[in-house]
Amino acid sequence: MSRKRAANVELQEARAGDRPVLRRLMQLYLYDFAAIEDWDLGADALYGDARRIEGFWRDPRRRSFLVRVDGTLAGFAIIREGAHFAGEGTREISEFFVLRRYRRRGVGEEVARAIFDAFPGRWEVAQTARNVDAQAFWRRVLGRYTHNRCTEEARPDGQGVLQRFDNSAR
Ligand SMILES: CC(C)(COP(=O)(O)OP(=O)(O)OC[C@H]1O[C@@H](n2cnc3c(N)ncnc32)[C@H](O)[C@@H]1OP(=O)(O)O)[C@@H](O)C(=O)NCCC(=O)NCCS
Repeated sequence: MSRKRAANVELQEARAGDRPVLRRLMQLYLYDFAAIEDWDLGADALYGDARRIEGFWRDPRRRSFLVRVDGTLAGFAIIREGAHFAGEGTREISEFFVLRRYRRRGVGEEVARAIFDAFPGRWEVAQTARNVDAQAFWRRVLGRYTHNRCTEEARPDGQGVLQRFDNSAR
């Protein structure tokens, strides 16, 4: 079976004016997570802690990117300087989302590779134990990107797994 590949994947760093769009994409992302992690919807019909989410856009260590496929919004990604577990000197993928309609067409892989290429250095990517699809995605993508020079270990918080690699030399 030949799967349809996404034709034209674009990554654009979000500007302050894109915040309403990012907020809405974040809700779609959290809706997916809610199904995986058994989260309830808030009484305001929003997922997540609004103050924490707003903090993402103001955090100078985070950079947000919009993903478009053939000119249409298809997801977003957020990276952060100072990874959650590795700390200073390592970047992390903070959030990463491809809308369902565009999945399994290579969009996520193309976006991940473009982000890593744009920011050479040490990277950390973590997944929760229940998010087995994301684990499969990151293992495959990082295995190919690093030619299997990527390590995987249990998260120090016991909540899943994390991968680390260094692409300084690419
Ligand atoms: C994880 C996610 C970003 C993958 O995006 P995607 O555009 O569908 O991924 P790609 O098509 O680029 O996949 C690349 C490879 O990863 C693997 N992969 C992707 N999704 C997979 C899944 N659901 N199950 C198993 N393997 C998967 C495949 O090997 C795939 O290559 P193939 O299609 O040639 O077999 C997307 O499913 C998503 O947004 N999920 C919800 C949010 C989330 O969990 N984000 C990650 C947080 S850590």
